[in-house]
Amino acid sequence: MKSLMLDFLKVTESAAMAAIPWIGSGDKIKADGAATHAMREKLNEMCMDGRIVIGEGEIDEAPMLFIGEKLGTGDFPEIDIAVDPIEGTTPTVNGQSNAITVIAAAPKGALLHAPDMYMMKLAVGPAAKGHIDIDAPLSENIKKVAGAKGKEMNELHVLIQDRPRHQRYVDEIRQMGAKVHLFKDGDVIYETATCLDHLEVDLFLGIGGAPEGVLGAVAIKGLGGEMQGKLLPRSDAEYARCIEMGLHHPEAKLTHHQLVSTDKCIFAATGITENMFLKGIQSYSDCHVTHSILIDGTERQFRLIESKHRKHEREGSRV
Ligand code: FBP
Repeated sequence: MKSLMLDFLKVTESAAMAAIPWIGSGDKIKADGAATHAMREKLNEMCMDGRIVIGEGEIDEAPMLFIGEKLGTGDFPEIDIAVDPIEGTTPTVNGQSNAITVIAAAPKGALLHAPDMYMMKLAVGPAAKGHIDIDAPLSENIKKVAGAKGKEMNELHVLIQDRPRHQRYVDEIRQMGAKVHLFKDGDVIYETATCLDHLEVDLFLGIGGAPEGVLGAVAIKGLGGEMQGKLLPRSDAEYARCIEMGLHHPEAKLTHHQLVSTDKCIFAATGITENMFLKGIQSYSDCHVTHSILIDGTERQFRLIESKHRKHEREGSRV
């Protein structure tokens, strides 16, 4: 796995650069298509027997990076891959912050095959690991996280996506005296932020995409935090899809181990536009500069990487 880390970084860098022409364009399909194509090209150059477990959809609805698609040279190791070529297509095409390209990888069988539906998610950094329970009332989780971090209630910072479905959580948390910070798009960034000490994020919670949940769970696993989830099928068809994918109790709590069952995982994300901890792509006359996070679960290490890509070449020098 470890030997592939730099290759995975090149995958997200390449996808982010492919999205450049579509930033602010209003065209979500073209933006996603460009990033997906670039990602697939790079993944196919890699020395691995890769398989998409979370991707752009089923084979009949996605021409590239569909679930089950085999990637790479076919050589050992066997790897399961979760991708979101653009996490935040709306902010990309509106020229707003919080768009990234993201990939997570682990040995075959270690990632939850999450259906594309909503998931309730709860995530904390290492200091509050072991102190959350998605089945417990929200107020209990808030108190336990504050206790674990040795914080007063008014020092606790919670990140929630700005959606009407979350208003009751926002009200409850603020009534308890804690602070809620709302974000427009990009769950994966904010899930990961719980584990980056300098950002002072104590808790992430809310309902968002299940695929983004697995991607975030890999980042959090690699950084020593904890995430739990619960799928929220909204129709008989979604319920049946869960069963079909081997999730026999679709609405049961998903532990961090069920989301990602190994520490030997890799997570890479590159900023298309800026976010809490990554700058967006900077374009100069002769080069593009990308900013990425690369997480190595085996070593429990993360790197923030700035790379310079000369425009006349496909690959640039890393600085
Ligand atoms: P896209 O990558 O599909 O644009 O998703 C962005 C996102 O904000 C996710 O991070 C989040 O999980 C999901 O949308 C929430 O969905 P909704 O917009 O339906 O509330």
